[in-house]
Amino acid sequence: MSLPQLIMLPGPTNVPPRVYSAMCKPMINHRGAEFHQLHSRILENAKKVFQTENDLFVLTSSGTGGVECAASNFLLPGEKIVVPVGGTFGERLAEAFRTYGASVVPIEVKMGSAPTADQVRETLARQRDAKAVAVVYNETSTGTTVRELQKIGEVAKSSGALFIVDAISVLGGDDLPVDKWGIDVCITASQKCLATPPGLALISVSKDAWRLAERAKPRSEYFSLIKCRKFRDEKMETPFTPAVSLFFALDEALQIILETGLERWIGRHKKASAAYYSAFGKMGLGFFAEEGSRSTVVIAINMPQGIAAKDLRERLRTKYGVVVAGGFGSLKDAIFRIGNMGIVTPREVLTTISSVGAVLEDLGFRGRSGAGIEAALPIVSEI
Ligand SMILES: Cc1ncc(COP(=O)(O)O)c(C=O)c1O
Repeated sequence: MSLPQLIMLPGPTNVPPRVYSAMCKPMINHRGAEFHQLHSRILENAKKVFQTENDLFVLTSSGTGGVECAASNFLLPGEKIVVPVGGTFGERLAEAFRTYGASVVPIEVKMGSAPTADQVRETLARQRDAKAVAVVYNETSTGTTVRELQKIGEVAKSSGALFIVDAISVLGGDDLPVDKWGIDVCITASQKCLATPPGLALISVSKDAWRLAERAKPRSEYFSLIKCRKFRDEKMETPFTPAVSLFFALDEALQIILETGLERWIGRHKKASAAYYSAFGKMGLGFFAEEGSRSTVVIAINMPQGIAAKDLRERLRTKYGVVVAGGFGSLKDAIFRIGNMGIVTPREVLTTISSVGAVLEDLGFRGRSGAGIEAALPIVSEI
């Protein structure tokens, strides 16, 4: 018998049946009234999830398209942007801006720790002409979240820099009140905490961001925000053919999140992450991210000595149908990562913890594999 796998990756994630069903709706005209209604409802509901009054656009692309959109719309070639880099996605964010000609000033951050407001302040004091600061809120490659994001935003804004946030892996899974935290441009993707299949990116754009975007012609035709705004304003459409079925899916997922209540939706991620950290800690495992910067949505666990990440992942998948991720680059064999995103119920959490415990035991782990469930139970009962 083949059962669906439990996709405990840091994206894509498990998708609610209601969202799958919505995707199977018959096709509609993307230049017709039904699409206009769908699009308008998605924008309204997505703004609630972003907690923003700013403009918001849904792009038919993966999250990287959202990053390219930011990189190609706001800065002119040669303008400076400060980017903390503490992992793969920080590197990619910096690279995207370089590709579009920006002069990137990286802040080197030790992997597993998060950039601080002081680091950004010091860098901006040396780079007074920096036009923007771009930060990966949750570094998916290391399971590290920037706990000083709001402060970094204040620092950026007080020096007149635009504040751009890659929240691709975390929006919906941890606190992120976009307007309250002064975020000018916030990017996320469908396949993470929004519990939708991959293929859509969402980007919010503040008035200050528009001021920069309006200075020059965008350097991407596909990701031109000026064009997106024109089509939305004039017809509630997108400039190019949208992935209509994914729009159906996102629409349904946003409704599920709002029916659940945003605070409760985020709260589930927080509680479940507390259960993971408590359980794996009690089992004798260590975490890659520093305490205080640990992510609620990506649990990055150090591999116990003598056990190969590849064996753990393979056995989890074949024996228990639980799919987890390895590390990127230099962390490939050093860690494994569990995505705690989207559908977060006691079932996902307890199945993952007990399966990891059982497989580690099989592979000769000398910690207390059984202790995880005991530690997690009282916490998951509150989810
Ligand atoms: C923080 C972050 N930024 C960017 C990306 C790239 O998104 P995508 O793979 O959807 O293009 C990811 C994907 O995992 C991510 O976690």
